[in-house]
Amino acid sequence: MNSGQVPFLDLVTVHRELREELRAVFEAALDTAGFIGGPMVRDFERDFAELCESRFCVGMASGTDAVRLSLAAAGVRPGDTVVTVPFTFFATTEAISQVGARFDFVDIDARTYTMDPEKLRTYLETQCTRDARTGRAVSKRTGSPVTAVIPVHLYGQVADMDPILELAARYDLIVIEDACQAQGAEYFSTRESRWRKAGSMGRAAAFSFYPGKNLGACGEAGAVTTDDEAVARGCSMLRDHGQSQKYMHDIEGYNGRLDAIQAGLLRVKLRHLAKWNDQRRELARGYDELLSEAGVTIVLPHVPSWSRPIFHLYVVRVADRDRLQKDLGAAGIGTGIHYPIPLHLVKAYAGEGFRAGDFPLSERAAEQVLSLPMFPGLTPEQQQRVAACVLESTRATGRLVSVTAAGGSRS
Ligand SMILES: Cc1ncc(COP(=O)(O)O)c(C=O)c1O
Repeated sequence: MNSGQVPFLDLVTVHRELREELRAVFEAALDTAGFIGGPMVRDFERDFAELCESRFCVGMASGTDAVRLSLAAAGVRPGDTVVTVPFTFFATTEAISQVGARFDFVDIDARTYTMDPEKLRTYLETQCTRDARTGRAVSKRTGSPVTAVIPVHLYGQVADMDPILELAARYDLIVIEDACQAQGAEYFSTRESRWRKAGSMGRAAAFSFYPGKNLGACGEAGAVTTDDEAVARGCSMLRDHGQSQKYMHDIEGYNGRLDAIQAGLLRVKLRHLAKWNDQRRELARGYDELLSEAGVTIVLPHVPSWSRPIFHLYVVRVADRDRLQKDLGAAGIGTGIHYPIPLHLVKAYAGEGFRAGDFPLSERAAEQVLSLPMFPGLTPEQQQRVAACVLESTRATGRLVSVTAAGGSRS
């Protein structure tokens, strides 16, 4: 690679550094033919549950399976409505649809990009009626009972969980955390006066170990964490053809198991996660400092006092995002857009009846966000170069970013 170039993500160097340890996993699997299940999966599940401070972890084939199967195991039924945000990866709503449920959206907080609890409250109070018999909220849009909520811990920052959990308790909603981007992130719960780990607060949580995640496999992988034994058991059965024991198919399930080799590789990498997350936080501080002189032409990531994010992504916001991305591209700097189209406006949901303007904060974010290079191993020189190019491009544009301030979350 040309020394001036800065990749968005470098997944080669990290694996080169761990090559011997990772090779030993392959060799152990080959020597024992332990490809499915077995100690590699169990050991990883134990260690990952410990990291998340949750009682159980059930390895899954992907984060998408983790969302889908945790919804089902926690009791979401076909025909239910599940509420989430439109500013997330498509898998969140795919998983809802694939359990036969409908989705509704509430908008995000303009600064954290995660679910705005006030919007959730407004949704439950004004977009739903109460079923006189069950007491449940019923969505006016879908006509079906709202039984679950999925806050998404976007970019490695936990959503404002206290008020979400409070509303969920009041409306009898199952909370499934989409923690796919948040391995190791923390949230200060004022209710409990303590820091909580992503994945330990909902009825269950879904994690993805897609290679680019902070903890990434060398292929597809995911996991569910939960404190609820019945949910853990349900997930274990659903991922394995509904089996309670070999060939005892108590229910119909799926083939959604975590591959043993991936579990072994993840366990090696898990030992480095705390260090890598610290490095990402350090890099985020570096960007904050380098970019601070841009003032109001760049919006930097907002970290509320209750959040210890892990910067899966470092996302800035500018008025002319496409120009900035083009300028950085021309300078050999890789960037990403997470995500360019809020889900209520994607083609797949054209039949749902949503319109532009329905979730304005998500729409505005989708137009303005740009993810800068962020990975452990990004050098200070590379980071300085990225920052200098960002400053040069935004200075040339000189446009102020207008972010509609949204109230709601504590900050
Ligand atoms: C927020 C979110 N949810 C769900 C997923 C799905 O995870 P996977 O790609 O492992 O299926 C992802 C992965 O990118 C994600 O970022």
